[in-house]
Amino acid sequence: MSAILKLDNPGSVLADSKKAIAKAFGRAAGTYDRCAAFQRDVADRLLNHVTAARGLYGLDVGCGTGYCTERLVNQGATMTALDLSSEMLLKTKARCGAEVTAITGDAEALPFKENSFDFALSSLALQWCEDLSLPLSEMKRVVKPGGKIYFSTLADGSLWELSEAWKAVDSDQHVNHFLTPSQINIALAQAGVNLDTLDFSDIVTLYASALELMRDLKGIGATHIETRQNRGLGGREQIRALESAYRKNILECGRLPATYHVCIGVITNE
Ligand SMILES: C[S@@+](CC[C@H](N)C(=O)[O-])C[C@H]1O[C@@H](n2cnc3c(N)ncnc32)[C@H](O)[C@@H]1O
Repeated sequence: MSAILKLDNPGSVLADSKKAIAKAFGRAAGTYDRCAAFQRDVADRLLNHVTAARGLYGLDVGCGTGYCTERLVNQGATMTALDLSSEMLLKTKARCGAEVTAITGDAEALPFKENSFDFALSSLALQWCEDLSLPLSEMKRVVKPGGKIYFSTLADGSLWELSEAWKAVDSDQHVNHFLTPSQINIALAQAGVNLDTLDFSDIVTLYASALELMRDLKGIGATHIETRQNRGLGGREQIRALESAYRKNILECGRLPATYHVCIGVITNE
């Protein structure tokens, strides 16, 4: 199966918020790779946990432009790539070639039968799900007993500098909420998974300005805010006030930090 499948069964009808997320990422499919240095760093850290891929059937959930899918194909896995955005999937197909099966679908309702894969991997997609326990349960369902589930997601504390700086400008929500480590642990318990590893670490990326950071976020498509219509990056006055508030965090090297609190988990399926 090499075509991109559009799911049209009633169960797969996407909620408006998912359509908005898919649209935002779809718009960014052409700019994603240029702006995704942090996402590649996290993917590399997650892929370091994958010790066996050769000859196995794998699923990349929220594949984006296919960075992880390609790495796993190169390690000898037969990959299926799934994403909400068909524009992202086109990039994955262009990157990985015909042998990768690309499917539009939702991590919270995976369109596969039980025990379809030897492993599943998801890097920096699950923070876009409404209920983290659902994609975890779904990956558990579609991965065979004994198979691995590898995931990375963002936790509370991510982009705190940007969030704080916006608070000095207006009372809108400009940065999405992320789950706390204890909420992530609760979701894992609700999904009933058997954890091998759960690691939280800070990754600090550096920018010349807050605008540069926001351009990267826009460039990767991370623009859908749960409680807010997308209104662009902001007007000139707003950006000036934001830059001035953000500069309170300036480092000795003259750069501005953007902190991500990254969660990496490895599960062995029962
Ligand atoms: C930040 S990108 C990460 C892409 C890729 N995994 C990487 O590491 O570069 C997040 C991706 O997850 C997808 N996504 C978000 N919510 C999703 C969901 N509920 N189901 C499937 N894909 C989803 C987006 O369309 C986007 O392509």
